Amino acid sequence: MSADDRRDDANDANDANDVDDSEATTLYARLGGDAEVRALVDRFYDAMERLPEAATIRAMHPRNMAGSRQKLYEFLSGWLGGPQLYIEKHGHPRLRRRHLPFDIGTPEATAWMRCMALALDGLPATVSPLLRETVQSQLGQVAAFMRNRPGDSPG
Ligand code: HEM
Repeated sequence: MSADDRRDDANDANDANDVDDSEATTLYARLGGDAEVRALVDRFYDAMERLPEAATIRAMHPRNMAGSRQKLYEFLSGWLGGPQLYIEKHGHPRLRRRHLPFDIGTPEATAWMRCMALALDGLPATVSPLLRETVQSQLGQVAAFMRNRPGDSPG
């Protein structure tokens, strides 16, 4: 097993719910479950299609992003504490390794998070600002971890 795989294992074990053990319900449930996770991912990729500052990361994706939408939805479902749809279909995410073919530095991670911030803006009013902030900062950590550009990677 490579150093990257070990780091993937460590990172994947830390799902978003580890930040708040006192909460009985998952982030997934508190966000609104399956429909809201699906809608979040749709808003995220809609933003990526639209934003000029996301053009570089948009160009890394296939022309038709239906498969990308589906995979991020499946991943976030499990990562937020809901059904482990991604693992059931594709096995261990090894997310960092899967991103190695793409040149990801701080500007790319920032652009990804810009799209995600806009997607989070569309959450229902029932979602508290604190919950939104928790999800955003946890995703920010994953995005930073995906960086692989020499001199601009997490370590
Ligand atoms: C940091 C900036 C990021 C960039 C530039 C990026 C880019 C990409 C690209 C180009 C793909 C391939 C899409 C496809 O094959 O359809 C991909 C796949 C994926 N990304 Fe990211 N990504 C980033 C961050 C993230 C983050 C933070 C997450 C999770 C929270 C994530 C989750 C995924 C998943 C689950 C896949 C599908 C993996 C597979 O099974 O092939 N990505 N990403």
